[in-house]
Amino acid sequence: MALVIDGKRISSEIKDEVRSEVAALKERGRAVTLAVILVGDDPASKVYVRNKKKACEYTGIQSVSIELPADTSEDVLLGEISRLNSDPSVDGILVQLPLPEGIDEHRVIGAIDPSKDVDGFEPVSVGALSIGLPGFVSCTPAGVIELLKRSGIGIEGKECVVIGRSNIVGKPMAMLMLRENATVTVAHSRTRDLREVTRRADILITAIGRARMIDRSYLKEGAVVIDCGINRTPEGKLCGDVDYDDVLPVVSAITPVPGGVGPMTIAMLMNNCLLSAKASERGRQ
Ligand code: GUN
Repeated sequence: MALVIDGKRISSEIKDEVRSEVAALKERGRAVTLAVILVGDDPASKVYVRNKKKACEYTGIQSVSIELPADTSEDVLLGEISRLNSDPSVDGILVQLPLPEGIDEHRVIGAIDPSKDVDGFEPVSVGALSIGLPGFVSCTPAGVIELLKRSGIGIEGKECVVIGRSNIVGKPMAMLMLRENATVTVAHSRTRDLREVTRRADILITAIGRARMIDRSYLKEGAVVIDCGINRTPEGKLCGDVDYDDVLPVVSAITPVPGGVGPMTIAMLMNNCLLSAKASERGRQ
């Protein structure tokens, strides 16, 4: 019988741990604050931001919301970031992506002070991860590591295949698995024989964005499958990159969609805010 990894339960555990540490900080007179910037009115982004605020309320983190119209200029946005960078009461700054057309995402993300980059998207954070220095790690891949560790799944020495090479999931995921001493392969849309690659995987992590693309023909018997995909079926049902029902009989562990990796992202964001506040209590460089 496959282990179905319960991301809802594990994310709740993490949020409860964060909540009690946030309360302890508050008792010492140190509030934890996350600033969230939303530009424009992309409906999906609005839902994400609402969920982040809800998690802040639950964990006791103060959230400051900055909502700007879609025609906001890059300079105005950079000005907001600069103001938040120098505000000592702000521990984390998150700019919800995607940004409206015409705004240079790299420039905006690059303007966030790395000590407040709780999304882990800023180039200094990304560089720190790749050379093994401390820094914030992108929340979804960090959540995958927590899911594996808290489910008792060993990573060291395992063959890990990550499908997808995005800056937010695929690339940091590969770096984290490498840091955990896995042997890591990154596959992507131009990979020549994907099945040949994925069938080597002890741990297969998908971040593809194609509904139910991965069936059992891509798997080695007994593989652990972590599905970072959030897609819709033609009928509008939420589903992952993996054909869950098809692969279930051949895997040793799997994350469902919904209820697997998804809830971990926000839990890890809350944890990053806490880490930022603790670092600033110790004194930022
Ligand atoms: N858009 C989709 N996912 C994310 C995320 O994790 N962080 C931000 N800032 N924007 C996103």
